[in-house]
Amino acid sequence: MQKTLVWDLPTRLFHWLIVASLLAQYATVEWLDNKVQWHFYIGYFTLFLVTFRVLWGFVGTQHARFSNFVTGPRKVFSYMKTLFNRRSEPAIGHNPLGGWFVIVMLVLLAIQAISGLFMTDDIFLDGPYRQLASEEILRLMNTLHHLAFDVLLYVIALHVGAIVFYSVYKKQKLVPAMVHGNKEIKTAGISNSRLLRALIVALITAVVVYVAIEVYPPAPQVDEYYY
Ligand code: HEM
Ligand code: HEM
Repeated sequence: MQKTLVWDLPTRLFHWLIVASLLAQYATVEWLDNKVQWHFYIGYFTLFLVTFRVLWGFVGTQHARFSNFVTGPRKVFSYMKTLFNRRSEPAIGHNPLGGWFVIVMLVLLAIQAISGLFMTDDIFLDGPYRQLASEEILRLMNTLHHLAFDVLLYVIALHVGAIVFYSVYKKQKLVPAMVHGNKEIKTAGISNSRLLRALIVALITAVVVYVAIEVYPPAPQVDEYYY
């Protein structure tokens, strides 16, 4: 057994920033008054994080890549058979079942952030894509924005429940590895976090999100009622 790097810094940063962003997103609509503008800004940041993670899933380090943890049903089922075996070999990166869970979370986060672009607070603030869609689409996005969050809450509860299960039942401490990146494993981990590559991917992501939010949407129509 040796202590070796498994989760690169960008993946770990993505994870804890997503946790902080979701908390802030909830707070800015449910606990704090008149903070919907902040809800928008943090929503754009969430969109940035999710887009970054999707790209990093293709060009990131070994265990961050989708090809490393998105597996076929056979592997998932054979993993499930070992789920309640206390002494089953710990996965190096995401296990086959957890890998699909990651995909579900990323899809839900993407639906949440994209549907937000079509939302309105019914008073002052319109999401940047509001002008682009028909009434029907706007209604659908509104439903999705509410529904995706409710589903996310259940999925997050399951996610945290699974982490506790691994810690208590299987004695596999996954959280410290998501913090410092290292695991005690038999094989070699990754050599480094590929920070220069991550920076380039982050810059590309920032440009894509900026164009999508600031450049692409038409300027909002000013309601003549206010003049
Ligand atoms: C807002 C709530 C949360 C969301 C949306 C979330 C989402 C995610 C996602 C997307 C991943 C995959 C990471 C990647 O490969 O990029 C992940 C992994 C992980 N999360 Fe969370 N997470 C949340 C809260 C938490 C909390 C509170 C904990 C700690 C108790 C936690 C612990 C972990 C761990 C340990 C992993 C790695 C699992 C493994 O070893 O396969 N997460 N989470
Ligand atoms: C992943 C990111 C996001 C999360 C987690 C999130 C979460 C939420 C939640 C929990 C609500 C309250 C829903 C309810 O009352 O049932 C809400 C409402 C809302 N969201 Fe988001 N949202 C996100 C992104 C966005 C974005 C990007 C925008 C706009 C650009 C946006 C605009 C709105 C608006 C306008 C409301 C209604 C606020 C009101 O009723 O005054 N959201 N969001």
